[in-house]
Amino acid sequence: MAGKDKTVFFCKECGYESSKWQGQCPGCREWNTLVEEPVSRQGGQTRRPAASGRAGKAEPQLLKEVVRSSEERVRTEIGELDRVLGGGIVAGSLVLVGGDPGIGKSTLLLQMCGGLSQRDYSVLYISGEESLQQIRLRADRLDNACDRLWLLSETSLDAVEEAIERQKPQIVVIDSIQTMYREDISASPGSVSQVRETTGSLMRIAKGQGITIFIVGHVTKEGVVAGPRVLEHMVDTVLYFEGDNAVSYRLLRAVKNRFGSTNEIGVFEMRQNGLAEILNPSEYMLQGRPEGEPGSVVAAMSEGSRTLLVEVQALVCQTSFNMPRRTAAGTDYNRVNLLLAVLEKRLGIQLSFCDAYINVAGGMRINEPALDLAVVLAALSSYKNRAVPDNTVVFGEVGLTGEVRAVTLAEQRAAEAEKLGYSQCILPWANVESIRKNKKGGEGIRLTGVRNVRELFGLLEG
Ligand code: TYD
Ligand code: MG
Repeated sequence: MAGKDKTVFFCKECGYESSKWQGQCPGCREWNTLVEEPVSRQGGQTRRPAASGRAGKAEPQLLKEVVRSSEERVRTEIGELDRVLGGGIVAGSLVLVGGDPGIGKSTLLLQMCGGLSQRDYSVLYISGEESLQQIRLRADRLDNACDRLWLLSETSLDAVEEAIERQKPQIVVIDSIQTMYREDISASPGSVSQVRETTGSLMRIAKGQGITIFIVGHVTKEGVVAGPRVLEHMVDTVLYFEGDNAVSYRLLRAVKNRFGSTNEIGVFEMRQNGLAEILNPSEYMLQGRPEGEPGSVVAAMSEGSRTLLVEVQALVCQTSFNMPRRTAAGTDYNRVNLLLAVLEKRLGIQLSFCDAYINVAGGMRINEPALDLAVVLAALSSYKNRAVPDNTVVFGEVGLTGEVRAVTLAEQRAAEAEKLGYSQCILPWANVESIRKNKKGGEGIRLTGVRNVRELFGLLEG
């Protein structure tokens, strides 16, 4: 086989490697994700990035003899980012920041770098997408000063390595991994093998020299560019930046974190002068909520270590089609259908002759079962054309027999509602018991426990 460039097939989603093309990836079971790419071989083996930069003898060690490293964290002073990172940046860690193009990844990282460089950290921002002038223009729009930040516009990883060697920064940003390439790999930038190998090299730099590296990765559903999913298992921390172009707020979510808890979220708003932190997301999400209207309910949801209040809206009206129309925006469509079926069966109301539109207002996406009770109450409120009192917050899971089941973190949810001035909370009966027993929170708010959807319906009628 010598002399001829060999190709292998890589899965764009999970990086699975195969010698022949297959319709379905054996690794992640996705269809049509295998792409052909040339590989450079060494000694007949496909080159894989090594797990760490250390060379030498492999010597096992007793667990109790392993020296604990004092984990120092550098605060970015962007509170929402620090929380998602688990309390700040850990030296020598590799952090992937993924998200759709244009969502604000570069803006967030530039703000972070600007702040850190002002506090005398040596930071190098490497962009393969924008020229130095463009970065300067962007930095000028931002509130915080960036004048002590080192910039490099480069796409060759060898040049990047050299620059890091010379500059010896503490923190490096690579924007984006899809533009970086290594000359010894014949595949084009953005391909699975380039993305994987360049990340491998960056990992060796991070671990070997104790430099924290942030990697930007664009998420693309289609096309030849390898998505950051390929990289998830190689890096220490994976953050996803989410949001809708229609709304100005952005969620930063940790989906993997070797140095902190996952499922934390940070909430930002994209403004004229960069990203601003939203310190009270509940108030923000509830802006512009209609008053005294049927079909609108406030739900208390739990995201990581905090509670968010969001508005759930329902519109239930007689259908003029053979098949009723159902939509669910911001939550799971099948779950909504299931809940409507439970109502039909348990309450005997004829929802199969009704269209039902469910919407979590504000563009947020929630898949927590605790949303059930709010969806059900909003649908019933719209169906009966009776408003739920404005001062009410709802949470709870609904089962197939119409029973309302306890959810986690009930006290925190009730406390958040109380903090924001709500005076009634409709929640699972079992949770009321536990809140009363613990006597923490829930004193200034009336707790109305429900055991099943029939009791909930009774509240609306009574
Ligand atoms: P950007 O950070 O370039 O996104 P990404 O790196 O994820 O592709 O953000 C681009 C969008 O943000 C762009 O549409 C303009 C907008 N934006 C603002 O609204 N205000 C600002 O201060 C900045 C810098 C960008
Ligand atoms: Mg960018």
